[in-house]
Amino acid sequence: MKNKEEFVGFAEHEYSPIVRDKSIEFLQELIKKYRPKNILEIGTFIGYSASVMLEADRDCFVTTIEIDEENAKDAIKNLTDLGFVGRFKVLNCDAYEFLQSQQNEQFDFIFLDGPKGQYFKYLPFLKKMLKKGGFLLADDILFYGMVKSEEHIEHKHRTIVNNLRKFIAEIQNDEELETTIYDFANGMSLSKKKV
Ligand SMILES: C[S@@+](CC[C@H](N)C(=O)[O-])C[C@H]1O[C@@H](n2cnc3c(N)ncnc32)[C@H](O)[C@@H]1O
Repeated sequence: MKNKEEFVGFAEHEYSPIVRDKSIEFLQELIKKYRPKNILEIGTFIGYSASVMLEADRDCFVTTIEIDEENAKDAIKNLTDLGFVGRFKVLNCDAYEFLQSQQNEQFDFIFLDGPKGQYFKYLPFLKKMLKKGGFLLADDILFYGMVKSEEHIEHKHRTIVNNLRKFIAEIQNDEELETTIYDFANGMSLSKKKV
């Protein structure tokens, strides 16, 4: 397995949005433990987290969505170079358009790591696409501490923070989901679909 710094496209980004080390470890543990076969990822970037999932269980298939064309191309190159051909699909499109276009495909694990302000809007679609007993893992849900903070939120972050608060309330109150919120890294939620 390569280090993330060796991935094509890594050096071109001054700030890397790759999932943090603790979250990657958690993702890896979950894949090893539950061994989901059909995985959906929203937010590919250059394919690092997808490669971690593909490596964690040699039998899984990952469909991953990325809006940026360069990132999508880099991800395809990285995942191909790592020998994962035939086990992944990188779709270069807007995640919401993808979700709206889905009819019947079912996933047993969804890793949500795309635009944070959209999680709430995506949720009904994700729930529908998740198999009974499947898991939805969402990253960055506490957004640098702002989501739990009672302090004034700067205007530029307010919509994201409010939408993340709505997302968290929804996954915690939904009777079909069993949710745990984790404080590590930038905050993660894990929701199991019970029915
Ligand atoms: C946090 S990064 C993903 C990091 C990746 N999961 C990893 O850890 O290796 C989020 C990615 O979502 C992509 N993105 C942003 N808005 C999107 C949208 N509307 N649809 C699909 N992808 C989007 C961004 O271009 C970015 O590459």
